[in-house]
Amino acid sequence: MKKLMAANWKMYKSVDQGVTTAQELCALLDGQVSDDREVLVCTPCTMLGPVAEIFSQRPYCAVGAQNFYPAAQGAFTGEICPEQLLSLGCSWALVGHSERRHILGETDEFCARKVAFGLDAGLKIILCVGETIEERRAGQVEQVLERQLMVGLRYVVHNATAATLSIAYEPVWAIGTGEVAGPDEICAAHTFVRTTLCSLLPSCGAEVRILYGGSVKPDNTAAILSLDNVNGVLVGGASLHAGSFAQIVLA
Ligand code: PGA
Repeated sequence: MKKLMAANWKMYKSVDQGVTTAQELCALLDGQVSDDREVLVCTPCTMLGPVAEIFSQRPYCAVGAQNFYPAAQGAFTGEICPEQLLSLGCSWALVGHSERRHILGETDEFCARKVAFGLDAGLKIILCVGETIEERRAGQVEQVLERQLMVGLRYVVHNATAATLSIAYEPVWAIGTGEVAGPDEICAAHTFVRTTLCSLLPSCGAEVRILYGGSVKPDNTAAILSLDNVNGVLVGGASLHAGSFAQIVLA
């Protein structure tokens, strides 16, 4: 199982800046990425085309979107559909990132529709899950993860595959805070996610990659990747600079 090393540029960078970072990444990564690693860069929609063009010659790196709307086309002002993303050379998309759940109000049911529609349309999907600090303090980590996975995957139990679906465990309190989850917390959550995936998706749950996200940095990546059931990372802040993301990819 290749480790998936994913960048999430969020709402940062002009098109020119994104292109420059992509070119810098190529200079740092070409010929360096081992066969057991796969790289993914999720950019703002504005630069998906030019960044995908740069990586199109690099089989080690794919390009992803951070969001899409679950419909083929239509009167959905401001939204973008999977077909439009695919036509730009974008092959992946995030669903249910905590910022979309907590700032934009996306529900588990809406995430479920997006996972199903995106997979059907031919996108590969990373479904993001994770508890808030209040939920952790209340002892509800497993309850939250189980609900987000059960609902989020409810329409894809028969057609998800390990090649097209990944999960990112991102404790909300660790995102953008510099406060990375400890090894015991990561192991416990990832083991729970694995067990839940095996029961929800009997044909592929054991092989679906589970990424960790939340304050991943070059100096903590190797330790995080060495933990059981950690099959990659989803990186926000430290992915914005080519140098630090390249160190993470090669860690
Ligand atoms: P962070 O963000 O690495 O800046 O904590 C992770 C994410 O939001 O995916």
